[in-house]
Amino acid sequence: MNWIGKPLTRVDGRAKVTGAARYAADFNQPGQLYAVIVSATVGLGRIKEIESGEVERMPGVVALITHRNAEKLPYLPHKGVIDPAAGERLHVLQDEEVHFYGQPVAIVVADSLDHAERAAAALRITYAARQPLVDLSDEEVQPIVPDAGRTLADRARGDADAAVAGAPVRIDEVYEIARENHNPMEPHATIAAWDGDRLTLWSKSQYLVNEQAEIAAVFGLPTENVEVVCPFIGGAFGSSLRTWPHVTLAALAARQVGRPVKLALTRKQMFFTTGHRPRTHQRIALGATEDGKLQGIIHEGTGETSRYEQFIEALTAVTDYLYSCPNVRTRYRLAQLDTGTPNHMRGPGEASGIFALESALDELSYKLGMNPVELRRRNEPRLDEAEGKPFSSRSLIQCYDMAGERFGWSRRTPEPRSMRDGRLLIGMGAATATYPAFHAPARARVRLLPDGSAEVEAAASDMGPGTYTSMTQVAAEFLGLPLDRVRFRLGKSVYPQTPSHGGSWTMASVGSAIRVACAEAQAQAARLAVSDNGSPFFEASADDLEWVEDRLVRRGEAAQGLSYRELVARSGAPVEAEGSAQRDPEVAEKYSMHSFGAVFAEVAIDPDVGTIRVRRLVGAYGIGRVVNPLLARSQCTGGMIGGIGMALMERTVLDRRDGRPVNAHMADYLMPVNLDIPRLEAYFVDEVDPVVNPLGVKGLGEIALVGTAPAIANAVFHATGKRVRALPIHIEDVL
Ligand code: MOS
Repeated sequence: MNWIGKPLTRVDGRAKVTGAARYAADFNQPGQLYAVIVSATVGLGRIKEIESGEVERMPGVVALITHRNAEKLPYLPHKGVIDPAAGERLHVLQDEEVHFYGQPVAIVVADSLDHAERAAAALRITYAARQPLVDLSDEEVQPIVPDAGRTLADRARGDADAAVAGAPVRIDEVYEIARENHNPMEPHATIAAWDGDRLTLWSKSQYLVNEQAEIAAVFGLPTENVEVVCPFIGGAFGSSLRTWPHVTLAALAARQVGRPVKLALTRKQMFFTTGHRPRTHQRIALGATEDGKLQGIIHEGTGETSRYEQFIEALTAVTDYLYSCPNVRTRYRLAQLDTGTPNHMRGPGEASGIFALESALDELSYKLGMNPVELRRRNEPRLDEAEGKPFSSRSLIQCYDMAGERFGWSRRTPEPRSMRDGRLLIGMGAATATYPAFHAPARARVRLLPDGSAEVEAAASDMGPGTYTSMTQVAAEFLGLPLDRVRFRLGKSVYPQTPSHGGSWTMASVGSAIRVACAEAQAQAARLAVSDNGSPFFEASADDLEWVEDRLVRRGEAAQGLSYRELVARSGAPVEAEGSAQRDPEVAEKYSMHSFGAVFAEVAIDPDVGTIRVRRLVGAYGIGRVVNPLLARSQCTGGMIGGIGMALMERTVLDRRDGRPVNAHMADYLMPVNLDIPRLEAYFVDEVDPVVNPLGVKGLGEIALVGTAPAIANAVFHATGKRVRALPIHIEDVL
C-alpha cells in the first residue's frame, strides 16, 4: 500500500468543521474559574500603588493576584532548544519592576469571564514610569554581538570588502522590515488544574514536552508531575513554540485559588506578550563582474531583542551558501530594547534576510542589464561554498525553470514600466527561497491491536499543516495497513518525546521515528510467531519471513500467512513498540542540507492612486519527497499569503513614548483577506534526496513564506521603476 505521496484530504477534517475538534480553551473543568491578565500601561518603571480593595469586592471576584500576594516561584533554570540561549525569562508577579509595555502585572480570578474582565478593567495601578527605548532606529541604540545561537554572528570567506570595492558593478543598500505579530486565529489559552502537586495544562502549544519541562522548572516540580494536553491548534506560525508567562499565570492562579482556572489572552495582549517577528535593519553590498559573476557579498543585519533575553534568528544565515561567490562576509547584531522578547515567526530570520539579499540581486540585475533569473543561474554554486560540502540535493535551477515556465516569465519585457494592462502598470518579479532541512531526535510508539488495527502515538502537535493526516499516511505505509485502520494520536506530553512542531522538521523527525517504530512493532510481532509453538512459523528464521502488507509470510509464499490480527490474538495482548530516530551524525558532517525554491510574482499597480494588487504568485520547490501533495500545496499557498502580508501589509507600530503597540487589533494590523489573494500556484520538482533522512523529506512550511516578499517587491520595481527597500510597501512609496 503506497500511502506516501497520495494527495489525501485531512483525516481530522470532519472533526474540525463540525466542532468536534477540541482546542485548549474547550477543555472546561468542573468548578473552573476564569482569569484575566492586567497588563502594564507604562513601558518601563515600577509599580507604586495598586488599589486592590474595591476590585476584590466586585461581583464574582475570587482573587486579585499581584506581586504583593503571589506565591514566590523558584524559576529553576530551564532552556529548551526553543528558548533564547542567552538571558533569563520574564518572572511574572515576583516584583514591582515593569520591563515593557503590556507586561502582566496582576491577574483577576472570578466566577465568570465577564466578572473577571470587569474587575480587571476597574483595577487602578499607579507607576513610577521611565522613558523606554523601543525604536531600533533610535541613535541611543547600541547593538551588541549575540552570545550564542545557531546563527553565527560573524562569518567570512575571502575579503568581501575589498572584492566589493574593486568590482566593476556594485550595489550597496539598506533594507528594513517592520515588526510583525503572528496573529493566529486561535488566541493563546491555558486551562490549569492541580491535583495535589500534579498539574494538568490544557494549553495551546507547538512544543508540549518543552512546556511540560518549562512549567515544571518554574514551579520546581519533577517534570513528570506536569502533563500538557493540546490535540488541536488554530494556527500558530511560531507563536506557541515557547511557553509564555500566561501559562505560568494560569497555573499560579489555579494553585492560589485551589480550583481549575481558564486563562485566554485577548487579541491585544497577543501583541506584546507572545513574541513577534523582530524589526530588522540590513545592509547588503554586492560586487559583480560585467557579466554578472558575483565577486563579493556583504550582509550586515541588526534585529530587535528584549533587555532580558537575546532572541537570535537566522537573519544572515543563508547568505554564505546560496550563491557561488569567493568573498562573503556576514555580520549579525542585536538591539536590546525595552519590549518583550521576539520569537520565531514563520521562516524566522531567513524570510527577513532573503528579502534584503534577493532585492539587492534584483537591483544588481538591472544595473547589469541582465535578466534577474539569468543572474541567479550564473551564480549557481556546485557545492555549499561556506561549508565546503556538497548539498544533499539542490534543485534551485529546476525550480526556476518549472515555476518560470508556468508563470510565463518569458513574456516579461525587461524595462521597468514597460508592461501595462489598460492603465494599470504590470510588474513581474522573481526571488529565491531556501530553508534548512532540519532533523531532530524524536520518538514514537506503535500499538498493534487485537482487531488488526494500529494506534500510533507521539507528543507532536498539528498547528495546521495536516500532521494527523501525513503521519497516518507514514504509519499506514510502513505497517501495510489501510489508512482507516491506523489512528495517529498527538497532543499529549505523556506520548513519546518529539521536538518542537516548528522549523519545518516535524515530518523529518517524527515521521522517521514512526517508520522505525513500525518496523519495531513488526519485528516484535514476528518474534511472537517464531516463539509460539502453535504458530506455523514456530522456530522459523527471521530471514525466511517477510511482511506482505499486514501479513507475516514465508518468503515467496505470499498466499499463506498470519495477519496482525491473528498474531495479536495469539499473544493475548497488544503488541507495543517504540522507535526513535535522529540524523546520522556522519551524514550531518558530510552534507549541506537545505530546501530550495523559486517564486514568481505579478503585480498590477494603479499609476494614479498607487494601489498595489498581487495578481499571481507561482512557486516551485525542491523539498525532497512530498508525503501529501494536497497538504503540501496548502502549506505553500498559506505561506505565500503570509508573504503577501509581509510585503504589503503587516506592521506593528510602537508608540515611542511608552512602547505601546498603537495598532494592536485586527482593524489596524493589516493582513491579507480573501480579496487580497490572487491565483496562487505551488509546484514541487521531482527530487530524490537519498541522504537527508530515510524518508527523503526535507521539510516544508517555512520555505513557502521565505521568497514571496522579495518576489513581490521586485515585481513592484518592474512595474513602477521605484525600488522600495522597506517592508511593508505602502501606496505612497510608489507614487
Ligand atoms: Mo515555525 S516559526 O518554526 O513555528
